[in-house]
Amino acid sequence: MLKHPLPRLDKDDELRNLLLPYCRFTTNTIWIDKKSGHRIGCGNATDKNFVKKLFDKDKATLAIHDPPYNFIAFQKSDVQHFIEWSKQWIEITYEQLKENSSLYIWLGADQKNNFQPLSAFIEMMWTTKFKSRSFITMRNQRGFGTQKNWMSVRQELLYYTKGKPYFNVNAEYTEIPKVLKGYYKNVSGKLTENMERSKSGNIRAGNVWIDIQQVFYRMEENVNGCYAQKPLKAIERIISASSKKNDVICDFFVHSGTSLIAAEKLIRKCFTIDIDPVFCEISLRRLEKFRREGKTGWQNSNPFAEEIKSDKKIRNYLLKKYKIEY
Ligand SMILES: C[S@@+](CC[C@H](N)C(=O)[O-])C[C@H]1O[C@@H](n2cnc3c(N)ncnc32)[C@H](O)[C@@H]1O
Repeated sequence: MLKHPLPRLDKDDELRNLLLPYCRFTTNTIWIDKKSGHRIGCGNATDKNFVKKLFDKDKATLAIHDPPYNFIAFQKSDVQHFIEWSKQWIEITYEQLKENSSLYIWLGADQKNNFQPLSAFIEMMWTTKFKSRSFITMRNQRGFGTQKNWMSVRQELLYYTKGKPYFNVNAEYTEIPKVLKGYYKNVSGKLTENMERSKSGNIRAGNVWIDIQQVFYRMEENVNGCYAQKPLKAIERIISASSKKNDVICDFFVHSGTSLIAAEKLIRKCFTIDIDPVFCEISLRRLEKFRREGKTGWQNSNPFAEEIKSDKKIRNYLLKKYKIEY
């Protein structure tokens, strides 16, 4: 088993800068995939012209956004700043979506600070043209908690729509078998219970997802160096429910490239953005690895392991600062 840890890149500018020479992206680079039609743009999600350039004449049927929100110090003014910033990329998303399309946004709610930025964000969405559709909670297997409060195990996902988009209800069925009988109902004069009436022996995910494991270093899809990776299974569920084969889907904050891999697996085109060239490079490398080896990530290794091995400066840096040996 490979063991090449890479510390969180967002917390270490020096390490990030040491990796930059290995990246094919700089600000405003747009990589266009000749094989499946994906696009990766290194730029700002609030730069309307850049996003337009990335999309060219195309429009998406689905947007899945996972913006960074942990930079907020939760002063009121910081929340306001986050909301004003979010309004910009939400408006750009609206313009780049087709008439009938879906928007999903992952967002946190700090329970010590009036559930911000989620609560302010929900209010802001009220002022846009999107219609609210569902409020999904994904349950983490591992949580963090104290003896004085409920253990925190949730991740919030907001679902909005523009027009009347496609929704594939079959994508909702989990692998969890139904075990509870009951809920008798009179159907054509006969008393039936819920197991007989339903279309599947398995339970529907509904808007509380309990069957998805959050990413950690023992999973194949793990990408060391990334700090906010969403599980592929969650993104695949969204894509399967709210888009069709060959549709364009988009993600303005790609980070580890989860949406890109999910789109590749499910035969959709993914137009995606990250402001950071290192995360654009990681996403592209993840796609290349998936095509080469069928692997969805590096498990306990990382996308730059080979370069680090032959770069004395990075090796020394990792050893000195983190006691990591290559
Ligand atoms: C929470 S992570 C997204 C995680 C992603 N869903 C995944 O599964 O890997 C947020 C990403 O947004 C990027 N980002 C921050 N500000 C941005 C901006 N203004 N425009 C585009 N990307 C931005 C960060 O570099 C980071 O990689």
